[in-house]
Amino acid sequence: MLFKGLKIGDLVAKLPIIQGGMGVGISSSSLAAAVAKCGGVGIISTAQIGYDEDDFEKKPIEANLRALKKHILKAKEECKNGIIGINIMVATRYYEEHVKVALEAGVDLIISGAGIPRNLPKLVEGYNVKIAPIVSSVKAAELILRVWDKKYNRIPDVIVVEGPRAGGHLGFNNEELENIESLDFNKTVKDILELKRSYEEKYKKHISIVPAGGIYSGEDIANYLKLGADGVQMATRFVATKECDAHINFKMAYVNARKEDIGIVKSPVGMPGRAVKNDFILKVSKEKEKITRCYNCLIPCDPTKTPYCISKALISSVKGNVDDGLIFIGDNGYKIDKITTVKELMDELVEGIERA
Ligand SMILES: Cc1cc2nc3c(=O)[nH]c(=O)nc-3n(C[C@H](O)[C@H](O)[C@H](O)COP(=O)(O)O)c2cc1C
Repeated sequence: MLFKGLKIGDLVAKLPIIQGGMGVGISSSSLAAAVAKCGGVGIISTAQIGYDEDDFEKKPIEANLRALKKHILKAKEECKNGIIGINIMVATRYYEEHVKVALEAGVDLIISGAGIPRNLPKLVEGYNVKIAPIVSSVKAAELILRVWDKKYNRIPDVIVVEGPRAGGHLGFNNEELENIESLDFNKTVKDILELKRSYEEKYKKHISIVPAGGIYSGEDIANYLKLGADGVQMATRFVATKECDAHINFKMAYVNARKEDIGIVKSPVGMPGRAVKNDFILKVSKEKEKITRCYNCLIPCDPTKTPYCISKALISSVKGNVDDGLIFIGDNGYKIDKITTVKELMDELVEGIERA
C-alpha cells in the first residue's frame, strides 16, 4: 500500500484525497459530508453559498454567512468524525467575517487561494483549526512560508499546489496556459517539497504537500505519491456524483462534455479560468453583458468593466440553466461518462492507487 493517510496537523484523513472546494453551491454539505464519510477530506466552498436562501437577492452577505454556518454544522453532523474544511478565495469581500463564522461553527481546515492569504494565521489565532494556502508557483509558496513564519510564528499544515490543468480560476497567464506542455508542474511540486523542509525542521512539524489539477485516476494519485506528495486535491471528478450539490443538468454537462468543449475563459476576477465553452461563453466573448445587479462578491471585479457577472453566471448554471451560465471544469472532465456515488468513486481511486 502506497499511502498511510493524509496528515493535516494532528488530524489524519484515511484517504489521501481532499475534495476541492467548488463555488456557488457545487460543494456544500452534501458532497463534503459524503467525501469525509469515506475517509477523504470534504470541502465546502464559501463562494455565494447562500445563493438558494430566501433573502439572498436582498441581503447576500447575511444569507451567505448564515448558509455557511448551516452547511458546516450539517456536514460535521453527518460525517461524525470526518474532516470538514472550507475553501475561501482571498478576493472574497468580507473574508474575515466568513472565516469567523467558519471558526465558530467548528470547521477543521481552512483552504485559501486565488491570492496570497497573508493574514490568515492572525484571523485563526486561538482556534484549533488547520490552515492551507493554495499556490501555483514556488515563489508564492516561498512568500507565504516566509511571511507566516516571520510575522505569525506559524507554518501551514498543508500546501495545495494547483497546476495548470485544474478547473475554475487558474494561477497562470494565458501564454502559459497555451503552452501547458512546457510547464514542468512536477518540478514545481518537487521544488516545494524541498523548500518546506527547513521550515519543518525549525517547527518540528510536518507540512503536507497536496498537488491539484487534472488528477483523474488512482494511477494519477499514485504518481504524485511516488513523487513525495502526501495526497492530492481533486474537484472535477466529484461533480459527477449523486451527492454533489449541483443540479442534475450541471452534472450532465460534465458527462456530455467533449475534449474540444473545454477551454480557457476570461473571468471577472482577473485570472483566466477553465470552463465548458458553451453558448453563454460564446455570447459574452462577443458582447459585454449589461450588469444590472452587483452582489459585491469579489474585490477585483469592477461591474462597469467586467464582461459578465460571475455570481449570476455561476448561480444560473448550478440551478440547471447550463446554456446560460458558467460551468467551470478541469481539463480531464471530458473523460467522465457517468454519474456515480462518492463511495464508488473513492473505491475506484483506491483500487487504482493500489494497482499502480
Ligand atoms: C466547478 C468548479 C468550481 C470551483 N470553485 C472553486 C472555488 O470557489 N474556489 C477555489 O479556490 N477553487 C475552486 N475550484 C478549483 C478546485 O477546488 C480544484 O482545486 C481544482 O478544480 C482541481 O482540479 P480538477 O478539477 O482538475 O480536479 C473549482 C473547480 C471547479 C471544477
